Amino acid sequence: MFFPSTLLLSTFVWDSISAQGVNFSFENITLSDADVENDPSIAFGDLSSPSAIPTSNGCKVFPGDKQWPSYEKWRNFNHSLGGALIKGLPPAIVCYTGTYNTAECAAVVSQYFNGSLITDNPVRIENEWLDGDSCPAQAYDNVPGGNTTNPTCDVAAYPAYVINVTTVKQIQLAVNFARNSGIRLIIKNTGHNLRGQSAGAGSLSVWTHHLKDFDFLPSFSISNFSSRAARVAVGLQSSDLAAAALEANVTLVIPGGVTVGGVGGWFMGGGHGFHTSKLGLGADQVLSLNLVTADGHFIVADPNINTDLFWALRGGGGSTWGIVTSVIVKAYDISNTAVVSHPITVSNGNLTGITSTTNGSFWAAIRTYLQFVPKICDAGGVGFNFLYNYGDALLEFTVLLLMPGMTVPQADAFAQPLYQAFQEEGINITDPNVVSKRSMFSAEPSLVNSAPIAYPSRGAGAMNLRLASRLFPRKNLEDPTLLNATFNAIYTAVVEGGYTLHSANHCPTLAVAGYPDDAVLPAYRETAMHAQLWDDGYAIGPVKLQAQRYKRLASYFKLWKDVSPGAGSYMGEADPAELDWQSAFYGTNYPRLLSIKNKWDPWGLFWAKTAVGSEGWEVSTPFPRKVPTQNREPK
Ligand SMILES: Cc1cc2nc3c(=O)[nH]c(=O)nc-3n(C[C@H](O)[C@H](O)[C@H](O)COP(=O)(O)OP(=O)(O)OC[C@H]3O[C@@H](n4cnc5c(N)ncnc54)[C@H](O)[C@@H]3O)c2cc1C
Ligand SMILES: *[C@@H]1O[C@H](CO)[C@@H](O)[C@H](O)[C@H]1NC(C)=O
Ligand SMILES: *[C@@H]1O[C@H](CO)[C@@H](O)[C@H](O)[C@H]1NC(C)=O
Ligand SMILES: *[C@@H]1O[C@H](CO)[C@@H](O)[C@H](O)[C@H]1NC(C)=O
Ligand SMILES: *[C@@H]1O[C@H](CO)[C@@H](O)[C@H](O)[C@H]1NC(C)=O
Ligand SMILES: *[C@@H]1O[C@H](CO)[C@@H](O)[C@H](O)[C@H]1NC(C)=O
Ligand SMILES: *[C@@H]1O[C@H](CO)[C@@H](O)[C@H](O)[C@H]1NC(C)=O
Ligand SMILES: *[C@@H]1O[C@H](CO)[C@@H](O)[C@H](O)[C@H]1NC(C)=O
Ligand SMILES: *[C@@H]1O[C@H](CO)[C@@H](O)[C@H](O)[C@H]1NC(C)=O
Ligand SMILES: *[C@@H]1O[C@H](CO)[C@@H](O)[C@H](O)[C@H]1NC(C)=O
Ligand SMILES: *[C@@H]1O[C@H](CO)[C@@H](O)[C@H](O)[C@H]1NC(C)=O
Ligand SMILES: *[C@@H]1O[C@H](CO)[C@@H](O)[C@H](O)[C@H]1NC(C)=O
Ligand SMILES: *[C@@H]1O[C@H](CO)[C@@H](O)[C@H](O)[C@H]1NC(C)=O
Repeated sequence: MFFPSTLLLSTFVWDSISAQGVNFSFENITLSDADVENDPSIAFGDLSSPSAIPTSNGCKVFPGDKQWPSYEKWRNFNHSLGGALIKGLPPAIVCYTGTYNTAECAAVVSQYFNGSLITDNPVRIENEWLDGDSCPAQAYDNVPGGNTTNPTCDVAAYPAYVINVTTVKQIQLAVNFARNSGIRLIIKNTGHNLRGQSAGAGSLSVWTHHLKDFDFLPSFSISNFSSRAARVAVGLQSSDLAAAALEANVTLVIPGGVTVGGVGGWFMGGGHGFHTSKLGLGADQVLSLNLVTADGHFIVADPNINTDLFWALRGGGGSTWGIVTSVIVKAYDISNTAVVSHPITVSNGNLTGITSTTNGSFWAAIRTYLQFVPKICDAGGVGFNFLYNYGDALLEFTVLLLMPGMTVPQADAFAQPLYQAFQEEGINITDPNVVSKRSMFSAEPSLVNSAPIAYPSRGAGAMNLRLASRLFPRKNLEDPTLLNATFNAIYTAVVEGGYTLHSANHCPTLAVAGYPDDAVLPAYRETAMHAQLWDDGYAIGPVKLQAQRYKRLASYFKLWKDVSPGAGSYMGEADPAELDWQSAFYGTNYPRLLSIKNKWDPWGLFWAKTAVGSEGWEVSTPFPRKVPTQNREPK
């Protein structure tokens, strides 16, 4: 997903270029044997003979269960944590009877869709329907403060407690306490995960957002790598990294989404961005990792030590192997990126500032664009586009080409064959927008060729989105028969289904990535199009309606799968109910990943739906579950 922005959203300040190569100071504060010797509730686990962990009627221990730790135990635990324990309260609680506060509610409502207020909040997630929309600030019709048809604020749907971690010691305490007490443990970094993997009712949540630290390493050597690198703490977001990279005068591979975590679940699931066709995925950048494992110990995983974990963490998914605290990533020469954009629409033609065309030309152009995608990859570039169906035969296709290393004239020349083909099809693009940017998120003056870019207008924020992803193989765009089949599957989903296509066109082949030996889904190496099928308004309405909408969405998604047998889905932006998720998200790596999971986490402590080894547990609800949820009792 990609929401370009010219705003620097974070307040992170990085104050020095350092060359130490040692751990961050927050990683020097760790849990010792002496710290735990008088308190069994925080004792370390033993991987060589894992003891059974407590359950309550076969379930994780939930608030209200008799096994739930007493008030006194929580108080002691908070004391060990240095007071970092907070209650998992949704912000909109101030809009409900009993806790209602006019001014506070108005403030929450007015900023409810502000993406930074989701990442900055201990419990909120982007795709709220996954926690059951349990304490919404808006009506189902999405009018802030308007018609709240869901009358209750169900606090129990959220984590019971959150630890606002600022040291590794607190993470170790969380892991030990949750394991020894049998409580569900979750990890929230930014909450962007679209499959609810950073949410969980009645859980203890480790909130990594405030672990913001950065070190540039002018010379770093490990295995066969010897060059510049950076040590990145896990709380940094894409915009933070963009700013730090600019200051260090290097390129870092970062997420395209401005508020996505720079080295959290993003790289663990693969991680694509502006440089994917040139430098590979986020997972391919990682040289070394520090993490807390399920037994509570703080360790390094790199090409020399704990190599199985090192392999698994780079592409094998978040919330599975341990809690990562920092990562050393490759740094590259800095270069400007040329950005080419032009929207095309077919319609009655009265959307402001948009070229209108005829239906036939429009679809011919889409086919032409799909055919052009491999050329974008071969030039080291990335395409981002949205194909919207607004209804009433009003369609819009917005294209953005990001060409790292190209100058404005080079990018202009590169795009000409595409525009020429468009012209032959009856679409005149006389004045494409081409700009050159040093940093994708910075507002610095850029070498503007023409008018400012008309970026897609949607911003990050609470979403009602349900989506599915297909990593269409490159051959689907190159082979004429497959291209037609792919085109037809997309056409049908958009025109007949009415859905949005959001596709990210990139090719992180093994060659581009430098032949890393990591756990990235093998199908990702073959793709030229991570295509997402979006049902934008999915969660506007009751659960029953959501279930119906999903059935319909799945039938159109099936058309995509039928034309791409064996290809997978990008787990970072996928359907939480993906069928055969083991092969769709992990492919042939699954058996190896599962054995590493069993070795390092025999307790199944780190759990998220569709994470490796998650088959043993499910979120149990009193009613048959109609839609995926991380809440124990969906409405
Ligand atoms: C608006 C938006 C834009 C996006 N843009 C892009 C994009 O440009 N490119 C792309 O590839 N993807 C993109 N995504 C998808 C994104 O990569 C995934 O949602 C990813 O899971 C986010 O990771 P996070 O750490 O930021 O978020 P979280 O939701 O906090 O975490 C994601 C998962 O990782 C786990 N996790 C987080 N931190 C740790 C840790 N320290 N140790 C172990 N596990 C951890 C969490 O438990 C959870 O399972 C976007 C999503 C949204 C909503
Ligand atoms: C962390 O500890 C190591 C080893 O004790 C030390 O060399 C390093 O300077 C410490 N780092 C910080 C930032 O305090
Ligand atoms: C944890 O302790 C701190 C400091 O004493 C306190 O402010 C906070 O409210 C406590 N947390 C909980 C959940 O009680
Ligand atoms: C979103 O919230 C951030 C952080 O509080 C704030 O700086 C920003 O101005 C807000 N954006 C909007 C559009 O209100
Ligand atoms: C609130 O929503 C209900 C159900 O959709 C609808 O019947 C009602 O008219 C709405 N009220 C207002 C004030 O919008
Ligand atoms: C979390 O900790 C950070 C750093 O100490 C602090 O700035 C922030 O206010 C805390 N947030 C909450 C919700 O406690
Ligand atoms: C950094 O932390 C890891 C994990 O505890 C430890 O193994 C390593 O020795 C530390 N490195 C330094 C330089 O302190
Ligand atoms: C930044 O890096 C570029 C490319 O490597 C180099 O040409 C330039 O001189 C550097 N600028 C500074 C200020 O170091
Ligand atoms: C767009 O055009 C249609 C038909 O020409 C017209 O009915 C409609 O009002 C126009 N919309 C806008 C926003 O101008
Ligand atoms: C639009 O074009 C498509 C593809 O060329 C065609 O199948 C469809 O019938 C056309 N629709 C209209 C309304 O002309
Ligand atoms: C596009 O440009 C060509 C050549 O300049 C012109 O002949 C043609 O009429 C234009 N087509 C449209 C749809 O504007
Ligand atoms: C693909 O579809 C186009 C447009 O309908 C058609 O001209 C072409 O012959 C088809 N190619 C193949 C290989 O079926
Ligand atoms: C460098 O070493 C890694 C393993 O540490 C290996 O996967 C990779 O292929 C090697 N790269 C080259 C260029 O030899």
